[in-house]
Amino acid sequence: MGKKRILSGMRPTGKLHIGHYTGALENWIKYQGEYENFHLIADYHVLTTNLDTSEIYDNTIEMVIDWLAAGLNPGESPIFRQSQVKEHTELYLIFAMLITAARLERNPTVKDQVRDLKIENITYGHLGYPVLQAADILLYKGNAVPVGEDQVPHVEITREIARRFNNQYGKIFPEPEPLLSKFARLPGLDGNAKMSKSLNNTILLSDAPDEVNKKLRKAVTDPQKIRRNDPGRPEVCLVFTYHQKFNPTEVPEIEKGCRSGALGCVDCKLKCAAKINEFLAPFIEKRNYYESHIDEVKDILADGEKRAKEEARKTMSEVHKAMNLG
Ligand code: TRP
Repeated sequence: MGKKRILSGMRPTGKLHIGHYTGALENWIKYQGEYENFHLIADYHVLTTNLDTSEIYDNTIEMVIDWLAAGLNPGESPIFRQSQVKEHTELYLIFAMLITAARLERNPTVKDQVRDLKIENITYGHLGYPVLQAADILLYKGNAVPVGEDQVPHVEITREIARRFNNQYGKIFPEPEPLLSKFARLPGLDGNAKMSKSLNNTILLSDAPDEVNKKLRKAVTDPQKIRRNDPGRPEVCLVFTYHQKFNPTEVPEIEKGCRSGALGCVDCKLKCAAKINEFLAPFIEKRNYYESHIDEVKDILADGEKRAKEEARKTMSEVHKAMNLG
């Protein structure tokens, strides 16, 4: 028995933040040995909410640099753009026949996006977001997909499409499972439940130490802790959540100090920034290397795309045969 396969993916939106790390990348890295991995750059998915493609290539390169700096191993696992493997669009078309429009209209993640982005009339392509994602996963016969909570409905649609295909044409596809990350969400610096580029409340993986210090100084804390010695409530404070992630050993002490009022927010933030900077230091060093070796990054993509294409062709020839489209 070979290793099970993971298909992991992200839309290329530029430099990544620490929420991307805790919600996704950390998990991808953790599973590297145990599974065979394919790392997809979902560039076509960007078009569902943003038609301006002028920065798509630069954003892709920035994201790949972050992936590499975080520790993805491209020698082991291909890193590739969806748009460069034509089989994605072909399988997407076939899959589009296997799911009803009503089922897609019920997808809560797409519904949330429509609400948040105030989209009045959804495009056909945006409604098909999970169908393209199903093609991404099943083209490589992914058994597992490391995702945050919000992506679970998409994986469920993938499973339904796989089942429908297998019943109709013969068993080709696995029914993939979501692999949920423990720290799926990291709150933003403004107290928002989610760290997000569009909310401008992020700490980037590439932020220099003084930038991290500056950002944390401005972070929102418990609004009831006004003076240094006021008792605070760690459970409502995003800085405390960051401590839990980046400074676990000091958490009991910080919790006690905050509650009693012995620890002020300024000191607490300084400690937190120092830990985040410690965490980011090796990352930034690796990032600097890739920034000055962009050709190496491009070669990694070209190589990953070649390997992904081979795998995609194999699956599509099985699909063609099963469907009498050979
Ligand atoms: N929808 C995913 C996201 O927004 C990105 C994605 C596209 C993806 N295709 C995928 C994730 C396949 C996992 C598997 O993060």
